[in-house]
Amino acid sequence: MSEEVRSRSRSGSLYRTGTAYSSQIRGEIRGKLHAETIVVGGGVIGCAIAYELASQGKEVILVERSRIAGGTSCAAAGMLASDSEEFHSPVLTKLAHESKALLHQQTEHISALSGIDIGLQQHGFITPFRQENEMNNYRDKRSGDLTTEHVWWDRSILQHRAPWISEEAHGALYRPSESEVLPVNLARAYARAAQTLGAKVIEGVQNVRLNVDANRVQGVDTSIGMMTCKHVIIAAGLQGGELIKQAGLNLPVLPVKGEIAAVRFADHDTGYRPDKTVYADNVYIVPKANGEVWIGATSLPGRSDHIVTVKGIQQLLASAASWVPGIGQAQYLRAWAGVRPSTPDGLPYIGACESIPGLYTAFGHYRNGILLSAITGRLMANLIGGHTSEELGIEELCPERLSRKEIMQ
Ligand code: GLY
Repeated sequence: MSEEVRSRSRSGSLYRTGTAYSSQIRGEIRGKLHAETIVVGGGVIGCAIAYELASQGKEVILVERSRIAGGTSCAAAGMLASDSEEFHSPVLTKLAHESKALLHQQTEHISALSGIDIGLQQHGFITPFRQENEMNNYRDKRSGDLTTEHVWWDRSILQHRAPWISEEAHGALYRPSESEVLPVNLARAYARAAQTLGAKVIEGVQNVRLNVDANRVQGVDTSIGMMTCKHVIIAAGLQGGELIKQAGLNLPVLPVKGEIAAVRFADHDTGYRPDKTVYADNVYIVPKANGEVWIGATSLPGRSDHIVTVKGIQQLLASAASWVPGIGQAQYLRAWAGVRPSTPDGLPYIGACESIPGLYTAFGHYRNGILLSAITGRLMANLIGGHTSEELGIEELCPERLSRKEIMQ
């Protein structure tokens, strides 16, 4: 670690307001805190932003209402599926590719600063098909997206390269550059790295109220006191829409619940354990760096509860076992549910709120928060650094785009 990093790391701190912390820290929190930028939300997006700002030597406080990665980030499968996902938007496709590349570049740095292994694995993804016509239809439909390295495997190559796949599979598309991470580790690594670089990360901060005065952001009032700043970035995922209403802005966030399960293969079953992610049309099967295999995910628009249903898990496990029959013999570990923050036009709200100087948003990443975290962090740091959305090529993502459209209609 360089001398600069070591000396700056002494000022970075992780405060937990609900748990024991020293009276000196309590005193600091109870007094008025100030930073150039306050990030609201300690999911992977907020943590990536804090990391980028701190990397650029900027003063930043991140406040999280519960624990780092306690919301949607801890429910994710952690796929960096920039090639496999269908984005329906050229700007998102571009950002997804840039984000994966950036995250790969950052991995060593954030791991070294945080001491946390993010579990990055690049084994590639396969999209399998049962029938030749399904494979051809997919090829026709996605031909415009197949710009990165990819290989079509016929049945014999597939059986050779993925002996754990069902014999019913006719063939597959293999995308070798796809990768995945442990999502909670990633968020925590960003947060810890940000702290090491001087950011203050405070968990358990409730009742965040935006302080807007003279039509400009002045800071936030919170359960632990007032914080002043020049810029506030709302990176609160599902809660983002509610928070931003305090500034009179309507940025709808639509919940889409997802359920996911984890299994483990016995050591002697290695021949049956998938060693690549299977990205099929109704299920994905992700072998994780912690030895587990995660199987996801259901998609239930309008649902924001965290109940795991028998039906949901039954469907997932049945679909997964139809592609990887060995899953039937694997040990069932657990299942969980999360809620994806979607938006009416499918694009995240990334940018400055034009009507309220100093207020910024970075939420609504739907099912791609982990994938888009690195680039969102970089974009937000560049916006805070004075670049415009136009310069960064993200005008389409401007937070107030939907209300602008309403006025024009
Ligand atoms: N990232 C995949 C999902 O949300 O299901």
